[in-house]
Amino acid sequence: MASLTLKNIKKIYPFSSDEQKKAKKKKDDEPEKKQVNLQITDEGVVAVQEFSLDIADKEFIVLVGPSGCGKSTTLRMIAGLEDISGGELYIGDKLVNDVAPKDRDIAMVFQNYALYPHMTVYENLAFALKLRRIPKDEIDIKVREAASVLDIMQYLDRKPKALSGGQRQRVAIGRAIVREPQVMLMDEPLSNLDAKLRNQMRAEIIKLRNTIDTTFIYVTHDQTEAMTLGDRIVIMKDGFIQQIGTPQEVFNHPYNIFVATFIGTPQMNLFENAELLKNNGRYSVKLGDYTVELSEDKQAALSAKNVAAQPVTLGVRPEHISLSASGIDAKVDVTEMMGSSVHLHVNSFGQDVILIVSTLNMTTEELDSLNHGADVKFDFPGNVCHLFSKETGINLEA
Ligand SMILES: Nc1ncnc2c1ncn2[C@@H]1O[C@H](COP(=O)(O)OP(=O)(O)OP(=O)(O)O)[C@@H](O)[C@H]1O
Ligand SMILES: [Mg+2]
Repeated sequence: MASLTLKNIKKIYPFSSDEQKKAKKKKDDEPEKKQVNLQITDEGVVAVQEFSLDIADKEFIVLVGPSGCGKSTTLRMIAGLEDISGGELYIGDKLVNDVAPKDRDIAMVFQNYALYPHMTVYENLAFALKLRRIPKDEIDIKVREAASVLDIMQYLDRKPKALSGGQRQRVAIGRAIVREPQVMLMDEPLSNLDAKLRNQMRAEIIKLRNTIDTTFIYVTHDQTEAMTLGDRIVIMKDGFIQQIGTPQEVFNHPYNIFVATFIGTPQMNLFENAELLKNNGRYSVKLGDYTVELSEDKQAALSAKNVAAQPVTLGVRPEHISLSASGIDAKVDVTEMMGSSVHLHVNSFGQDVILIVSTLNMTTEELDSLNHGADVKFDFPGNVCHLFSKETGINLEA
């Protein structure tokens, strides 16, 4: 167990000589062309920048974001598998930028298990401890402890090829925990598993984290995994941190439109044609003919920043919209029956809007009436409105 501090960490992958020539040529040919995504500099590709984060001892941190946003790069810098181009990395209070991976007391679990195929499960688990010349009987105790935590006792004599994907991933995790590392890094450890197994292993990891005293840093592109596992979530995009917070914080107070739409499923609805109004110091939001006064906490947050009335992008989560007798007119497009709820895709203002409607108190007739083309009305209360600046996409309350 250990705390970690990342201070303004940066990673630049230098160009290969071929890429350098290409980049230079491109620059000469089309000097105006803007790079959309990652920053390309003369030195190379900037994969991660301005990454600052304090991780508490035994905290479970999840790095999440779309493909290519720099999650693995960050993890590999912490492990020491990748040089740090700028900034400082501390484990405890020791600066480790130049400490070799084997001396960082970190274990890493990868997506593709990477077990030794010619060794049994037992030998795989024991391998790192043997290298450290730990006595045989002590190794035996540690291996059996890990195997029992992970429920793989019955497979100790098998070779990896005789195991299922989920069992292999347990062995890979076991191999990391026998070392009792101060920090456990996991890079998409569940992404090779099918959906059912993934849910099961997710629960196992939650259990594991309660059994072993280790700081976890876990990488995934799956927001559900991030929400269920993380004490805090770090949401990344294009090499930059977008927001750091508890699952509740990032869900209830997304810092910008990217976070708002990345976290939560189905995705938050965005209305581009909304307006923030301010009358006698009270804020409300107007969408078409529908106006709703914002809740007191939102009034306070906006007043504190003296936010002016303005056109906004309004975000409302599907679970916060209800069908109503009066409200905004819409036409049903598609009805997805999910069991206890219906995901209702409707069309309003020429855009798609998704509502989650509970079926618990609905009659069969009411359900049947929600077919394609049906006219409905919806509304939402003032405490579920997320208001984003048209210019910056940043939450006006932030
Ligand atoms: N060895 C490398 N050399 C040059 N560029 C690299 C190298 N490794 C990664 N990159 C680039 O750095 C960026 C970040 O990559 P990284 O692997 O950290 O993304 P990621 O968030 O883990 O994505 P994924 O979800 O697809 O695994 C990408 O644009 C990638 O192309
Ligand atoms: Mg990755």
